[in-house]
Amino acid sequence: MPTILAIESSCDETAAAVVCDRQILSSVVSSQILTHAVYGGVMPEIAARQHVEAINPAIAQAYQDSGKKWADIDAIAVTTAPGLIGSLMIGVTAAKTIAMLHQKPLIAVHHLEGHICSALLADPTLEPPFLCLLVSGGHSSIIWVKDYTDYQVMGKTRDDAAGEAFDKVARLLGLGYPGGPAIDRIAKEGNPQAFKLPQGRIADAPYDSSFSGLKTAVLRLTQKLSSNGEPLPIADIAASFQATVAAALVTRTVNCAIAHNLKTIVAVGGVAANSALRSLLVTTASDRGLRAIFPPLSLCTDNAAMIGCAGAIHLARGETSPMSIATRSRLNL
Ligand code: KG4
Ligand code: ZN
Repeated sequence: MPTILAIESSCDETAAAVVCDRQILSSVVSSQILTHAVYGGVMPEIAARQHVEAINPAIAQAYQDSGKKWADIDAIAVTTAPGLIGSLMIGVTAAKTIAMLHQKPLIAVHHLEGHICSALLADPTLEPPFLCLLVSGGHSSIIWVKDYTDYQVMGKTRDDAAGEAFDKVARLLGLGYPGGPAIDRIAKEGNPQAFKLPQGRIADAPYDSSFSGLKTAVLRLTQKLSSNGEPLPIADIAASFQATVAAALVTRTVNCAIAHNLKTIVAVGGVAANSALRSLLVTTASDRGLRAIFPPLSLCTDNAAMIGCAGAIHLARGETSPMSIATRSRLNL
């Protein structure tokens, strides 16, 4: 079974890990969230500079924690796309340097493929085919995983990603950044049925999403409520918004699974950490005779273990990358 040292730096987490096939030997995530919180979102220039500082310590720590020696490591996997170009370049440069220094093959990993593989780490017995709801700060997709490395995107967002919607609505409610965890926390004290909000259905594309109408509806609601001079019922608004996003995503994913006779649904990415989404997906899936799988919260948000898992799959298929491999800010799965 291949042992992979993996690096992830596509956004605001500097991460390194060592995995042996689907087993995590070490995983280090150095988060920049507190730095970017001051600005209310990720600042690309600052992210790149922080990756420069954090990357070598993260790799050294992951290597040391793994208990492995360089001779035991079969390849270096790294996220090359999509993401912030300056951030990606730091991880890719580090990966190329290590690969050259220790004479290891280099494996380029698509960030979204990494997120999909976080489900394989969560349940090592999981095998394709399955349906994957991938919801993060930059993406909202329903992906039919037909086989390892064989993906069909069944639905995507027409505008904001699910995580982006959480972050924007949290800013609107004055809850800070990142918005997802803040909304999740305060929603526990609110009534999810307090306000009816639009789920953003797309008439001719049943598995696509649109969150911009929902965001505008929350804005109008806050304007209307605050014009009464009363304090805003923040917890009720947060709970109603969260329940609407969860219902929209779960309905589309479950319908897609049933239409394509897929028995297992996995939810991955930062928004898959959301408690309302998790509980609604578990109950809806089990009502319909489907299995729902979620990675633990630490594997939902960006990490390098998932990149290592994807790297192991590529290595087993003899797929390695040239040292000239470039970074891409955008790239379809
Ligand atoms: O997967 P991720 O770490 O990074 C990307 O690849 O984008 O996802 C980050 C996103 C952020 O938008 C954050 O607000 C959201 O995931 N998020 C959540 C929760 N935890 C993180 N959204 C809803 N509920 C949560 N508990
Ligand atoms: Zn991600």
